[in-house]
Amino acid sequence: MRREDSVIDYRLLERQLSALLEGEPDPLATSANFVGLLYHSIPDINWLGIYVLRAGDLVLGPFQGQPACVRIPLGQGVCGTAAEKRETLRVDDVHDFAGHIVCDPVSRSEIVVPLVSGGDLLGVLDVDSPSPGRFGEADRHGIESLCDAYLRHIEGAGRDGPGFI
Ligand code: SME
Repeated sequence: MRREDSVIDYRLLERQLSALLEGEPDPLATSANFVGLLYHSIPDINWLGIYVLRAGDLVLGPFQGQPACVRIPLGQGVCGTAAEKRETLRVDDVHDFAGHIVCDPVSRSEIVVPLVSGGDLLGVLDVDSPSPGRFGEADRHGIESLCDAYLRHIEGAGRDGPGFI
């Protein structure tokens, strides 16, 4: 069952995120805490993490949940498709998404938000739920706003390595 009315106060969560990240320039520490805060604040999810774009592949970054597939080519799976299109993908039932990549068979619905900064695709945020239709439009807007806040924080923190983390 879809939850159109999210029980999450995303604006409060955004303020908590700002407070948590404030003053720390290291993008690795920032990314790890971003993932940790969201995983423990969004109910009914079983995996949440960042895939970082490195040389054309999405490579597993900071996450919470079961160990996951390490490398996803652009255009493959929900993550690679969202990254290639640079569009948020909200999948109500992963069994209906041709090419979905199974990392944890418990996952039934998924939302993937591309992380784009200054016109560059940096990676994606992937969130999985064991409930079909877990993510509604309120979740999409809320999670996109959190990603924007996270990106604003890491912009200027240095992107000299092979990825932004
Ligand atoms: N299901 C994703 C793969 C990543 S895991 O769910 C953590 C996909 O189809 O891209």
